[in-house]
Amino acid sequence: MNLQFILKLSAGLSFLFLSILILSGWGLSGGYIPSESEAFSSILYLRKMGGVGQMIRSLHFYLSSGLIISGFIFLMTFYLNGYTSQYWKQWVLSLSIYFLIIGSCFTGYLLPMDQNAFWGTQVRLGIVESVPVIGVWIANLLRGGSTIGSETLSRFITIHASIIPIIVSIITLLLIQSQWEFIKTILSKTSILFGTIIGLVLIYFWTYSVSAPLELPANPIDVDYTPRPEWYFLWLFEFGKYVEWAPWIRSALLPMAGTLFLLGLPFLKHQATNHRIGIAVSWCGTWLLLTSLTLYADRDLPEKLNYESAMFVQAEENYQSLCYDCHGKEGKGDGPQTKTFSLETPDFTSKTYWRGTDDDKILNAIKEGKGKDMPDFKRKLSKDQIYAQLEMMKILFKPKK
Ligand code: HEC
Repeated sequence: MNLQFILKLSAGLSFLFLSILILSGWGLSGGYIPSESEAFSSILYLRKMGGVGQMIRSLHFYLSSGLIISGFIFLMTFYLNGYTSQYWKQWVLSLSIYFLIIGSCFTGYLLPMDQNAFWGTQVRLGIVESVPVIGVWIANLLRGGSTIGSETLSRFITIHASIIPIIVSIITLLLIQSQWEFIKTILSKTSILFGTIIGLVLIYFWTYSVSAPLELPANPIDVDYTPRPEWYFLWLFEFGKYVEWAPWIRSALLPMAGTLFLLGLPFLKHQATNHRIGIAVSWCGTWLLLTSLTLYADRDLPEKLNYESAMFVQAEENYQSLCYDCHGKEGKGDGPQTKTFSLETPDFTSKTYWRGTDDDKILNAIKEGKGKDMPDFKRKLSKDQIYAQLEMMKILFKPKK
C-alpha cells in the first residue's frame, strides 16, 4: 500500500461519509424537535423504538468521527505526497471543508440535550468566551443569551443542518468543478469502489451492533458532572491544563497559529520528503502524547452510563429513599413503617403478587397511589422515572420462573 493509494482511499471514504452524513441528517431532522423541553425526548424516542431510526442516529453519530479520521488521513497523505504546493487551491478548499466539519461537530454535539451534550457545550462555550475582546460576544451570539436553552438549540441546528452543509456542498462542488482533472487522479474508479465497499461493510456492522450513546437528560443544576470532549479534542483539553493562567493561548493563539501554519504549508518551498515526514510525525506524536496523558489522568473517572443504565441506578436510589420505608430493602414488604403500623404492603418477591398485577397497575399505583397507605409519586417522579421504577422492580424483585 503506497501513499497514493491511501490518499485515494481516504478521499473516497470521506466523500462517502459526507454523503451519508447529509442523508442521515435529513432522516434525523424528520424526528428531531429543537426545543429545550423536547430535544432529549425526541432522541430518546428514536432510541427506544430501535430499528431504522436508531440505526440512522448511530450512523450519523459514528460517521462524524469517521469523517474526522478519513479527512485527517486525506489531508495528511495529501501533504506527505508533496501535493500542497502544486495544488494549493485544493489544499485550501479541503482544509476549509475540514474546519467546517469540525464546526458541525461542535454544533451537533449539543443537539441530543443529554448531560454530556449540555455540559460539554458549556465547557466549549467557556473556551470561546476566553478569546480576547470578541470571545464573550461570539459566545452570547451562539448561545442566544447567557444560558444554554431553546434559543441555543435553534441557533445550533440552523448552523448544523443548514448553514454548514450548504457551504460544504458549495465548496465541494467548486472543488470538483474547477479541478476535475485533479479530482480524477484522486477519485479513481478503484478508490470509489473500494471506499464504498469497505465503508458500507464497516458502517453496517458498527451501527448495527453499537448504538450511539445517550446519557440522562441535561440537568443544568448538576454541577458535579464532569464533561469530556470527543476523543479527537482530548488533546486540546489536556493542553488547556497547562495554560490555565492564560486561557487565550488555547482559545485564540493556538488555533490561529495552527490554521496559519496549515494554510501556509503550500508556500514553504522545497520541502524534502524527510522534512515532510518529520512534520507529520511530530504533529501526530504530539496529538498522541497529549491524548494519552489526559486518558491516563482520567483513568479513575467513573464510566459514563448510558440512559438505560443510568435510569436503573437512579431508580435503585429512588427506591431506597422513597419506597424502602414501607416496601423494605429487598421489596419483601417488610420496611420499618410497614412493621410499625402493620400496613398491608405487598411482597414484590412473591409469585402471587406478580400473578395478580400487570405493568399498567404498577405504573398507575406509583403515579396515583393505591389504597389508603400507598402515597402517590406524580409530583416527585417523572413519567420516565416511574417507568424505570417498574423496570427495576422486575429486574431486582420479580422471581425468575
Ligand atoms: C407509606 C408507605 C409506602 C411507601 C412510601 C410506598 N409504598 Fe407502595 N405500597 C404501599 C402499600 C401499603 C401498598 C398496598 C396498597 C394496596 O394494595 O392497597 C403499596 C403498593 C404498591 C404497589 C402495588 C401496586 C399493584 O397494584 O401492583 C407498587 C408497585 C408500589 N407500592 C410501589 C411503590 C414504589 C415504587 C414506591 C416508592 C417510589 C412506593 N411504593 C412507596 C405503601 C407504600
